[in-house]
Formats: sequence, structure tokens, C-alpha cells
Amino acid sequence: MKISKDLFDKLHFAAVKARENSQSYYSKFKVGAAILTEAGKIYGGCNIESSSFGLTMCAERNALSNAICNGERIFTVILVTADIDTPISPCGACRQLLYDYAPGIIVIMTNLKKDAIVENIEILLKYPFGFMKNLK
Ligand code: THU
Repeated sequence: MKISKDLFDKLHFAAVKARENSQSYYSKFKVGAAILTEAGKIYGGCNIESSSFGLTMCAERNALSNAICNGERIFTVILVTADIDTPISPCGACRQLLYDYAPGIIVIMTNLKKDAIVENIEILLKYPFGFMKNLK
């Protein structure tokens, strides 16, 4: 799938908007994500931290959950962004969930300046564990 500049800009804008809702009291590190469905709808997500640190939810997983809870099932692209020098890269837990619910999804890692790295989830999560592809 070719990512046009228009699509990149739309997803980046949605991720930046979602990031504004970040609840990052502990890390002070705001992250935003936007996931695109096959039908062209975009759902945002931000990171939400907990005083019980391990319960923190990343922006990517919240964007995915937001879309799934709205009935969406097929995803093509997710963009993630944060205010850092080099593009932010999804953590292992997010890679697993993306692999489970959005196999083959294109992951666009960015920062606020719009530097970008584009990779397929299958590259980001090499030798994955998973059987959910068969559960559709
Ligand atoms: N975080 C994300 O939301 N996405 C990532 O890709 C990496 C990290 C969040 C989790 C935590 O709230 C903060 O960034 C610092 O780790």
C-alpha cells in the first residue's frame, strides 16, 4: 500500500490531536496514535498512565481498542507520534496486539516534526507468537 502525503498528513494530524488527551502524569511523555480502517475511518488513541505503573496503556493500543470497540475489524495503517528527535517506535506489547488484531498493518513511526519510518508489523514483530489470524 502506498502512503500518499495526503493520507500521511491526515493520520499525523489525528495522532497529534489524540495526543492532546494524553494522561502522562508520571512520565510527562505524551504519545498519540491514529489507526486507519479498511473503509477509510480514522480512530485516535493516547497514552494513559496509572499510579500502578504497570497498568499504563500506550497510545497505539488505545487507538486499536477505540476502533475495535466501535465495531471495526480490519485495519490498514497506524501512525504513532511523540515529541522526540527520532520517530517513536511501538513497544513489544503494542506490536503483539497489532499483530493479533491487524496482521499486515503498516506502522508509521513519526515525531512532531514529521520525520517518519514506515514498516510492516510483520517486520517489527519477527517470529511472532499468535493464532488469532485463524479466528476471524
Ligand atoms: N508509550 C506509548 O504510548 N507508545 C509507545 O510507543 C512507547 C511508550 C507511552 C507509555 C508511557 O505512558 C510513556 O509513553 C512512557 O513510556
